[in-house]
Formats: sequence, C-alpha cells, structure tokens
Amino acid sequence: MREDRAINQQLHSIGETEKQNLSPVNQSILKIWGPSRLQGNINISGAKNSALPAMAATLLSSGVCRLRQIPRLADINTMGKVLSALGAKIKQNGNTLDIDASNLDNPEAPYELVRKLRASFFAIGPILARLGVARVPLPGGCAIGARPVDLHVRGLQALGAEVHIEHGMVNAYISGSKKKLQGAKIYLDYPSVGATETLMMAATLAEGETIIENAAQEPEVEDLANLCIAMGANIFGAGTKTIVISGVPKLHSVDYTIIPDRIEAGTFLIAGAITNSEITISPVVPKHLSAVISKLQSVGVEIIQEKFDSLRILPGEILKSTDIDTQPYPGFPTDMQAPFMALLSVCSGSSSVTETVFENRMRHVSELNRMGANIRVKGNHAIVQGVPKLSAAPVIGTDLRASAALILAALAAEGETTFQGLQHLNRGYEEIEIKLQKLGAKLQRVDQVKENEISPASV
Ligand code: UD1
Repeated sequence: MREDRAINQQLHSIGETEKQNLSPVNQSILKIWGPSRLQGNINISGAKNSALPAMAATLLSSGVCRLRQIPRLADINTMGKVLSALGAKIKQNGNTLDIDASNLDNPEAPYELVRKLRASFFAIGPILARLGVARVPLPGGCAIGARPVDLHVRGLQALGAEVHIEHGMVNAYISGSKKKLQGAKIYLDYPSVGATETLMMAATLAEGETIIENAAQEPEVEDLANLCIAMGANIFGAGTKTIVISGVPKLHSVDYTIIPDRIEAGTFLIAGAITNSEITISPVVPKHLSAVISKLQSVGVEIIQEKFDSLRILPGEILKSTDIDTQPYPGFPTDMQAPFMALLSVCSGSSSVTETVFENRMRHVSELNRMGANIRVKGNHAIVQGVPKLSAAPVIGTDLRASAALILAALAAEGETTFQGLQHLNRGYEEIEIKLQKLGAKLQRVDQVKENEISPASV
C-alpha cells in the first residue's frame, strides 16, 4: 500500500525534489580532508547514459514501461521533465520509473530543458517515429565541446524525414498519409553514441529494414537495443559496428533493468588506486571496464574479479606512469580521461594523455595543477609529470567528469580542499558524498553561508 502511494507520486514531484535538492547544492561547496585511506564495499548505481536514452525509448511504446535501477540524478530529473512536457506520465518509486507515453501528444521539447541536457535531444527519434512530427531545439555547445547533431539529422533524413533547422529549432516531419519512416542504409561518419541511439530508436517503428554502419559499440547502445527488443523491436548486432533493425508496427510495455554505470565504477576504482586502498565495487559488468582495468594494471594496481559482477582493487607498491588515448568503445572512454589524469598526476614518471573524442576536454588540468600536479597541455594532448604528492586547494569543477577528477585528487591531497561544482557532480554520481563517506573519506557539504561553523572536527 505504502509502495503504491510512492509509485503514485507524479514526476512533477521529481521536479520539486530537484528544486529542493539542487538549489541549495548550487550554493554549496564540498570540503574534503585528505589524504584518505578508503576501505569497504560500494554499490554501483545504474548507468546514467543508459537511463537517459531508455527514458526516451519509452516514448516509442503506447503501454506503460517500468525502468529499474534508474539513478537519482539531476539529469534524470531534467529528462523526466522533458517527457512530461511531451505528454508522458511518469511515476517514481526510488530507483524505479513507470513511464506511460500512451497520451504522447506534444511533439515539441522545451528549449529551457534541452539546453540543460543534451541527451534530451535524442528523444527526437522516438517522437518522430510515434507522432510523425518532432520539434526539438538544437542543444547547443557545452563545456567539453561544440557537439553538433548533424549525424542525427542526416540519419533521420535518410529514414525519409523532412528536416529543417530554423531559429535554433530542428523541425522534423514525415510526409505522406502513413506517417511512417522508411528503412534505409545509414553510414555514420563517426560512431556517435547519441546518433546511433536516436536512429536505432527511430528505425524500430519504420517500414522495412534499416542498417546502421559504423555504429557506436558502447554498452549503453547495446542496453538500449535490449530494452527495445524487450518492447518488441527487431534489432540485431547492437554492440557491434553494424546494427540491423527490422521495423515493427508498434512496441509494447516492458519491465527492464538497466546496466550498472561503468563510469561510476571506474571512478571508484581510481579512488581506490589514488588513495592506496582496498575497496570492492559491485554490481559491475567487468567486460565493460576492460580498457580502464588494463590501464589501472599498467600503473601497478591489482584488480581481482571476485564474483561475476564484483571487482576488488588492491593497492600497488609504486604507481607508475602510463599513456592514455581516448577512443570510442572498446577503447579507453573519454568520460574516464579526467578522472584517470588525476591518478596519473601522482604516478612516478611521465604519462601522455590524448583526448580524441571531444575538442575541449582538458579544463581540469589547470585545477589539478593548482593542487600541485605538473601537467602541460597542448591542444588535446597533455603530458603529466608525476609528483610525489598533491596538496589541497580551493578548486572549481567545470563539468561532470572534470569535477570527479578534482574529488579524486582531493582524496589523495594533503589538507583541506574546497570544491565548488556540486551541481555538475549531481548530474552523474548518485549519492557520491554518502558513498565516499561510507568508504571512510572525510568530506562535508557546506552551505557557504554557514561556512564559519564547520571545522574538520565536525566531519
Ligand atoms: C555520449 C555520452 C557521453 C560520452 C560520449 C562519448 C550520453 C548521454 N552521453 O554523448 O557521456 O562522453 O557519448 O562516449 O550517453 N558528433 C558530431 N555530430 C553528431 C554527433 C556527435 O560531430 O551529430 C561528435 C561530437 O561532437 C563528439 C563525438 O562526435 O566530438 C562523440 O560524440 P557522441 O558519441 O555523439 O557523444 P554523445 O552521444 O553526445
């Protein structure tokens, strides 16, 4: 009964939760006292980057879709608001969302929301496939690069949509009385995760067969395909470079659990490595972390797979340098570049880090240097000269993963780090403070107004 009441909470209550939880965060800072020694087990949340497209995919169905293991994050709240604005009804119960898009009636996503969350643009595929028309604002650039949507648009055109971009709005519609997209062969110039997801979702309801070549192979793409398959779609080859989708007339209800977050998992593995600690993380899909595990082993830490879904990290004697080159999956993930650079900053010797996916993803470097790191950047290439230790400093996170890098550095640094940028962290790490505190880290969220009342003794 209690559960029913909770389930019956409308998503507008997510919006309210966001107001309550996030407004203070914007004014709050995190104080971290290092160096820390961590210990214990950490529960990894569901993957943000699976949850967001999964929420968009529910627009394809006229039944109620239940999604489980959805992390409670600011980005999820924003996506929920986008779906609500389109006419979907959403109920939240802890990490479970029930989404009913049977009354999907508004084809236009609000600019104020899309601007905040690029991934909400991915809803253009399902909206168009369901309603025959979609109007979604261009998401614009973001802290890590320009991030165009040309591949999404060209793919939708290949599927038969008319697409016009005017006044910052992408207007897409399907002409003809049937309002059906037509299967097509699409080659992506770059294996964009978002474009693969947009087009795969759109093609599930198209007439005929769609082949996406040079598709993104990320685990989140495969997870989205598995969700759509569970809803009745015909999709083959997701997780490889070629995805074949055979359109069906409609998709049905589903009860689906999304995969664990490999980026959160990787971040906690680095937390273990940078603090010379032994910690266990679960649930994880170890295969999804192959590139990160391999680089962690190169720097000298030991990683043991304990069960099929858990990993234990053991401290290495000396941390050694290694080189990182970000690549689409199964290469080293761009989302782990900044966190890993924090670790390399205390590895002996010289490491090279090359960012190939985004053009402006080195903004954490100047802040890491303020903490005593020795990193030189030229374009998208950084040389990290390892230092014996970092020293705490006031730092500012510029984006989600840059913020994670600074938190990791602060765990290893001597003294009190003051971190500004909780609004970024809350976009991608569920309960990060609670999880770190559980491992023994000394940190405290501080309302800046009350700052004078806080001292390390209160931690
Ligand atoms: C997703 C992830 C993000 C991750 C990224 C790369 C989500 C919600 N976000 O973002 O965390 O960092 O994959 O693994 O899943 N590009 C174009 N034209 C397009 C689309 C993309 O040029 O139409 C470019 C981008 O500017 C970027 C590169 O392709 O340089 C990769 O972007 P993409 O794979 O699309 O990333 P997202 O799906 O936005």
